[in-house]
Amino acid sequence: MKIDEALIREIVLRVVENRLTQGQAQAAPSQVPPEAEPGRAEFLAAEQTCPVIFGAGALHTVGRKALELGCRKVLLVSDPGLVKLGLARRVADNLRASGVASVLFDRVQPNPLDADCNAGGEIARREKVDGVVAVGGGSVMDSGKAIKVLTGNPPPISKYYGAAACERGAPLILIPTTAGTGSESTKYAVLTDAKTHEKKVALATGDLAICDPELTYRLPKGLTAATGVDVLAHACESYAGGVHNPKADLLARAAIGKIAVWLPKAYRGENNETARYEVMLACSFAGMAFNETLCHLGHAAAHSIGAVFNIPHGICCAWTLPETMAFCAALYPERVAVIAAALQLEPRPGIAVAELGQLTADGIRALLRQLEIKSPRESGIERDDFLAVAGLVRKDFCYPVIPVSLSEAEIREFLGRAYDSYQ
Ligand SMILES: [Fe+2]
Repeated sequence: MKIDEALIREIVLRVVENRLTQGQAQAAPSQVPPEAEPGRAEFLAAEQTCPVIFGAGALHTVGRKALELGCRKVLLVSDPGLVKLGLARRVADNLRASGVASVLFDRVQPNPLDADCNAGGEIARREKVDGVVAVGGGSVMDSGKAIKVLTGNPPPISKYYGAAACERGAPLILIPTTAGTGSESTKYAVLTDAKTHEKKVALATGDLAICDPELTYRLPKGLTAATGVDVLAHACESYAGGVHNPKADLLARAAIGKIAVWLPKAYRGENNETARYEVMLACSFAGMAFNETLCHLGHAAAHSIGAVFNIPHGICCAWTLPETMAFCAALYPERVAVIAAALQLEPRPGIAVAELGQLTADGIRALLRQLEIKSPRESGIERDDFLAVAGLVRKDFCYPVIPVSLSEAEIREFLGRAYDSYQ
């Protein structure tokens, strides 16, 4: 995988400087001057992405809400698996009952391609839709964001990478079917260039998110574990990083506590309805948090491992998160102590930094074992191959957000610790 490093660095650095705006006509109402007045504290630039309707059965509001957003004919974006399960049909029927017609576009694949989004945009224009409804996981929601942009702007989507100014586009409703990426709560649409395989980022938010935990009641165990651990990684990296604000902190802390209690239950199917509700809520909270703070070391390494070994994103995050927290303990001990407490690890007052890092990392590894997440070795990855991704990590778009610059040798050491300590 190639990364458009210059572009990503520009986006990341703007977030780090707390100056990032929507880059679209609907510039965030929370946009503030970049510098505070002399003698006064810095402003808090907390972004709001889109309204959220949350709760079991919320899916049934989609037709009414599309109508309220002014839609009469929408592009229904999904993937072949969800079409097969009948979910796209359920949404189309609900829309129709409210007098909203729909045209299905199901050409979304994992690691969504810009070319597919361009094709979706072309259908949206040809069919003269006045709205987009995206039903699926992160890939579907990111594709929906890109198609939204193309309903209001000339193709291709590559014109709008980064913070390029563009028109708002048609209203977009995001409906997640997993509790993992949190894309419904973020402004990022991560796409893959079909020709070069470079990762690109367009910025667009939904106009409404409908989060219905019922859609996750029967998720397979493996998918529940992998997506749920991604939520934990978003929240932990958001809370213990170099960029934070009080709003993101609150949401990240709540998400960590919910995952610690409810993800194992959701995995075991114990108290399933409540567990799925809480895990989906944690996902949404973590998305809102890292929308403003981004993720850093764990995700930079996870992206690289995933690209090389074709391993699901959440599993890669599981492998890198424990040692990321050990790394962060040396930089932000108070913050990692809060994370340890939220994970119910009960760090004692005055605990030494190294011990705190070990306690937190071990606690997360114990959670991973409860979720029966295989180690890199158990997944057939040799140690030397695992460490060889270190060069890629330095090119990842999350690398500039790592609070301390790390050499390739230091990243190899980090990867070695991650490999050895979770066998
Ligand atoms: Fe993630």
